[in-house]
Amino acid sequence: MCGIVGYKGKQQPKDFLLEGLKNLEYRGYDSSGIALKNDDEIQIIRSVGKISSLEEKVNNENLINCSMGIAHTRWATHGIPSEENAHPHRVGNVTLVHNGIIENASELKEELLKENVVFNSETDTEVACAIINKYYEGNAVEAINRAIKVLKGSYAFCIFFEDSDKLYAVRKDSPLIIGYGEEEVYVASDIAAIISYTNKYSLIEENEIVEIGDRVTVTLDGNVVNKEVLTATISADSKDKCGYEHYMLKEIMEEPLVLEKTLKPYIDNLDKLPDLTEYEEIHIVACGSAMYAGMIGKTLIEENTNLRVTVEVASEYRYKKVIYDRKTLVILISQSGETADTIAAMRKAKMAGIETLAIVNVVGSTIARESGNQLFIEAGPEIAVATTKAYMLQVAMLSLLAYKAALSSGLVNDSVMNEIKIVPRMVREILDRRDDYLEIAKSIYERDDIFFIGRKIDYAVSMEGSLKLKEVSYIHSEAYQAGELKHGTISLVDDGTPVISIITDKDIKEKTISNVQEVKARGAKCIIISNEEITGYDHLIQVPKMSDFFQPLVVVPCLQLIAYEVAKLRGCDIDKPKNLAKSVTVE
Ligand code: AGP
Repeated sequence: MCGIVGYKGKQQPKDFLLEGLKNLEYRGYDSSGIALKNDDEIQIIRSVGKISSLEEKVNNENLINCSMGIAHTRWATHGIPSEENAHPHRVGNVTLVHNGIIENASELKEELLKENVVFNSETDTEVACAIINKYYEGNAVEAINRAIKVLKGSYAFCIFFEDSDKLYAVRKDSPLIIGYGEEEVYVASDIAAIISYTNKYSLIEENEIVEIGDRVTVTLDGNVVNKEVLTATISADSKDKCGYEHYMLKEIMEEPLVLEKTLKPYIDNLDKLPDLTEYEEIHIVACGSAMYAGMIGKTLIEENTNLRVTVEVASEYRYKKVIYDRKTLVILISQSGETADTIAAMRKAKMAGIETLAIVNVVGSTIARESGNQLFIEAGPEIAVATTKAYMLQVAMLSLLAYKAALSSGLVNDSVMNEIKIVPRMVREILDRRDDYLEIAKSIYERDDIFFIGRKIDYAVSMEGSLKLKEVSYIHSEAYQAGELKHGTISLVDDGTPVISIITDKDIKEKTISNVQEVKARGAKCIIISNEEITGYDHLIQVPKMSDFFQPLVVVPCLQLIAYEVAKLRGCDIDKPKNLAKSVTVE
């Protein structure tokens, strides 16, 4: 969600800035822009739509000679996607790009209007720009410091001033890093933007002000801060599609590999995992797909231990009344580690003195740094906006946690553990059946509505199957507890309506099959994913039979590949679905 890059060095920054923006495309955006600066001039170029249209505009302009610039991809919050609302914004002396939301922008704007400030956009960013400009009397750090005391909300800013040749950056609740090259310094929302230029970087902490001149100086409330220089472990190649047509496909195909990498340390030593049975209650809090992974975790833990588990959407949890009257562990799940609502939920639990455990992919992210304990999934960079391999690993991590809790409760034996070793191989076999998924996709891609049904763990798995399909194909889809469909939604089922049923839970299999019969009787096209041979329906994908703990891991890839093939047949922008952002850093 919005991306920032900044450059100060010896080269003309255009190529770096445009490449940096392309590397951040996966975060989601609807407009973009760059600003270049030399001693005499500031040049701003902005465009709506793809970065290619910004690139075309930039290439058609006579660019100023310079060695400093900032650039931005915008995901609209205040004001429609338009050239006026795109960043960079300039007010007086100040030009900047911004990620986040300034929550008190309207009241600040009212005051500024009384002071005759003229605004050219509907954005909160332009208000922040005007505030910094208001406080600027020749000392940039002081102006930024004063402004951030007034601005409420979240921000990552990269800023330059008309009469200075330095570049500045500051952040709160929105990520930003500094990268170090040979005689050049980069600012970026994340390491993916700059990894082809450098793997040396520092994290900017909340409200630290970065001043980039001939050297980099970081201060917090006027005190100099020494920054640790980190080395990124991702490689520049991880941003390549490696011959795959889409990142989504590449990332699904990586699942066996990343599963192996993530699971290995715990297969070798289960003691590395926390024991959930030390708690009386578990709250799993996350957003979107991560929350659906949590639903699988809840089912596995509750079915196999005597623990109480709730799963909450973070945007609700952060504001609702939560009673912490038992020894509680709050598990936060987040691929990016930067999801605003999940961060707020984590801070709420911490404020109440509750222990937190994060299942997170990005090392160095806010959730990774602030949570009490962390379990890192080893997904590597996930570029496609729709999550696949990271979700898979979240599910795998929760399966292990549930298994360990069941072992501690004495409710399973340790023979199950041998099975986890074969999961990557099983997943690879499932991924090889591309023709089956394509055949199913061909039979459903022209429909307007698709339903997923299942009971218990199968329902939990189907929720993400449905979300994945709607995200990338734009087909309306819903997941239902199989027994619930007839209480209303079955009225939407008619001739040819696809109903994808997941049937792996042996205890409840017959009940779900009865529900499939009900939709079949109303003309539905019945697609079954099961670990048993179930005949008499339109399509069957038979997956290997696994222990309850690991069964979802062989169903998930089938659903992801069906969603992928459907989206491809519909000609959708698979890696960057409309309106979606990879990392949702605003409420
Ligand atoms: C992406 O496919 C998902 N649709 C999205 O729901 C995502 O899972 C959610 O925004 C949470 O992101 P996070 O894991 O980075 O916190």
